[in-house]
Amino acid sequence: MKILFASSEVAPFIKTGGLADVAGSLPPALAAAGHEVKVILPLYEGIGENWRSQMTFLKYFNVTLAWRQVYCGIFEIVQNDVTYWFVDNEYYFKRWQLYGHFDDCERYAYFSRAVLEACGHLNFSPDVVHCNDWQTALVPIYLLEERSRTHQLANTKSVYTIHNIEYQGRYGSQVLEDVIGLNPGYLSETMLGYYKDVNLMKGAIMASNFVTTVSPSYAQELRIPFYAHGLHGVISQQSGKVEGILNGIDAQLYDPATLTGIESNFTPKTVTQGKAKCKAALQRAVGLNEDPNVPIIGCISRLVGHKGFSLVTDALHRIMEMNVQMVVLGTGDWQYEAAFRDAQNQYPGRFSAQLAYSAPLSNMIYAGADLFLMPSISEPCGLSQMIAMRFGTVPIVRETGGLKDTVFPYNKFTGEGRGFTFADINANDMLWVIREAVDLYFNNKEAWKQLQMEGMTADFTWNSSAQQYLDIYQRICG
Ligand code: GLC
Repeated sequence: MKILFASSEVAPFIKTGGLADVAGSLPPALAAAGHEVKVILPLYEGIGENWRSQMTFLKYFNVTLAWRQVYCGIFEIVQNDVTYWFVDNEYYFKRWQLYGHFDDCERYAYFSRAVLEACGHLNFSPDVVHCNDWQTALVPIYLLEERSRTHQLANTKSVYTIHNIEYQGRYGSQVLEDVIGLNPGYLSETMLGYYKDVNLMKGAIMASNFVTTVSPSYAQELRIPFYAHGLHGVISQQSGKVEGILNGIDAQLYDPATLTGIESNFTPKTVTQGKAKCKAALQRAVGLNEDPNVPIIGCISRLVGHKGFSLVTDALHRIMEMNVQMVVLGTGDWQYEAAFRDAQNQYPGRFSAQLAYSAPLSNMIYAGADLFLMPSISEPCGLSQMIAMRFGTVPIVRETGGLKDTVFPYNKFTGEGRGFTFADINANDMLWVIREAVDLYFNNKEAWKQLQMEGMTADFTWNSSAQQYLDIYQRICG
């Protein structure tokens, strides 16, 4: 099949979150299964010279966006059997950060049109165009008319993946004609219309041939108002074409046996010795007391409410009453940053607040910590818990979305499971399972090792998920 994968960020070129990881690792998995895959993304200011020097310029043309005729250049890199197309327009993309500009609606409407017009100009006829999140939500909508305008797209079907329903792209209805370039009919209930506004994600759910989200549990949760941020009705109504497919991780990159930048590489066989070295290195790097016998609880996340940090700040002092060390890596809301900065002062050598974004340090935490805490209020999939498990770091998670689908709770009677879980959004419940985990760490080394093994040998590759996407592509293409 021919697949065009459209995403507003793609690792390793540019990344702000998990969407980039998926866009970086799913397409190569589809290509490895023997399909022709192209990935298309904006050529941002932040894409460095190391990549730009490898790009080939293919063509330029004008994209029609309402009354505008806008320049669009296409640059190309071919890598791992995948072709990457970069959409060049410096007015829209030569900016200091990816999102959060006054004209984001226009920028991504432009990108979405460019995705389809590039197919015509570069003579590519994808069987499926696979779009992601609000930034490319207009692609399936534009495709409705573009099929009759561009012969290369006449038989193209659309798949839309929701990575996070919290960000929907909701704008006042005045953008419809002037910015997005659609006629007023599209404001209907069956298209983009949403309480008199325009809602891009809602439109994509309505217009796509198939909708997926990034874990089976999240797909179920999206029918409930608590999780769906207003779109539960739409998801329920369209549930016949909505499915959850678990993300994989880049298993080649996140391999403790080969990852560079950690103190010692290790395999399931050498995990105990390997992690001991990584732990000492982590303790030195983040200012924790160098003590091989204390379990380290690691936490890597954006420090925002829906990641469950109020549970952590509520229980912080009771966690620190235990014989543990803790390291938090991330940036975000000031109240969490302040609480963690205070904790570092109050528990010197035992609590480390790393209020930054750092890939090298995150790898050191995956490798050197013993426990990995992720108490998310909602988590569409979550990748860090899978990476942690791969590194023999035992996760403690709330049972939601992808966390529920990847971290099976430890059963002290059968010894089965991969980590520790709690169900309710309640700091005491979280504290209870942290205590159980710490207790197991100190008092049952054998069971602990077994837990590490379960996580390290679990299949978090893309193999089966890529096949599930291919099944859906095939189903909608007939
Ligand atoms: C979003 C979600 C996260 C998911 C990622 C990749 O960032 O919040 O849970 O893992 O997308 O799909």
